Amino acid sequence: MTTQILDRGLVMDAVRVAEEAAIAAWALAGRGDEKAADQAAVDAMRTALNELAIEGVIVIGEGERDEAPMLYIGERVGRGGPRIDIALDPLEGTTLTAKSMADALAVMAWAPADTLLNAPDTYMDKIACGPGLPPGVIDLDRSPADNVRALAKAKGLDPSEISVCVLDRPRHAEIIASLRVAGARVRLITDGDIAGVINTADPNTGVDMYVGQGGAPEGVLACAALKCVGGQFQGRLVFRNADERARAHGHGITDLDRKYDLHEMVRSDAIFVATGVTGGALLDGVRIKDGFVHTHTLVMNSASGAVRQVRLKRRL
Ligand code: FBP
Repeated sequence: MTTQILDRGLVMDAVRVAEEAAIAAWALAGRGDEKAADQAAVDAMRTALNELAIEGVIVIGEGERDEAPMLYIGERVGRGGPRIDIALDPLEGTTLTAKSMADALAVMAWAPADTLLNAPDTYMDKIACGPGLPPGVIDLDRSPADNVRALAKAKGLDPSEISVCVLDRPRHAEIIASLRVAGARVRLITDGDIAGVINTADPNTGVDMYVGQGGAPEGVLACAALKCVGGQFQGRLVFRNADERARAHGHGITDLDRKYDLHEMVRSDAIFVATGVTGGALLDGVRIKDGFVHTHTLVMNSASGAVRQVRLKRRL
């Protein structure tokens, strides 16, 4: 299936929605209140989405209907138009924003209806690398050390030249140890694994691989981005209790141990947009200067393979 329905006009609509969420969240950057920053982004994104001529369904959102009053999974947005699956994270990096640290983003992926994985709000084991490598070069079922060795071989490098991005969490101690046994350099991030995955596809970042456990919703969003720029991804949902398993069943997932690849998580062409909230490696943050607001947005379209950067300068 192609993104014929996701024409240029709709792509720019998506950009404007991400810009609004980023501007709203940025107003609360550095104020120490994660919830308020997230709520501001949610409100702005929802308002902007509801102005659009689309029939959108939130497939990846703020949570289940009973716990998230806005942008919950299954909520319909827009005034009517093409049927679109929407995955969103109005503020990826709530803590980063509250602490005014780098790399917080407002993120969305759009795809034709019924083509994005309905992932529940659980954790997911993830592994990713960039494009141009033999299929299957990385595999969730191999040890992190073996993945480093396989990736190094495929890239014609020594394992010591491989850099791996991992979320800095106690649960990743074994993964980090295994990566270091293989000789890899480990780049720890405090939050924001969507950017961690995307960075594997950009040689300028120096990141060759991403591995570890993060949010499943972020996994779908990262897959949409990799679908546009190429690369490999595998994910497996992680369930900590019966409630999370029940949620998965509620989303139509029957095989709870399934290992998904990128094209199973995003089954059609898709567009991906991310606007920087706080500045970082991927994008500049929101800036207000001389009566204007400035934003920086990454826009990618898997149908054309186009990657664009959009800079907004708008009078306040
Ligand atoms: P929030 O923006 O919801 O705070 O998520 C940030 C994030 O770092 C994600 O990028 C990542 O997938 C997830 O949190 C990891 O979860 P945890 O903080 O529980 O380890």
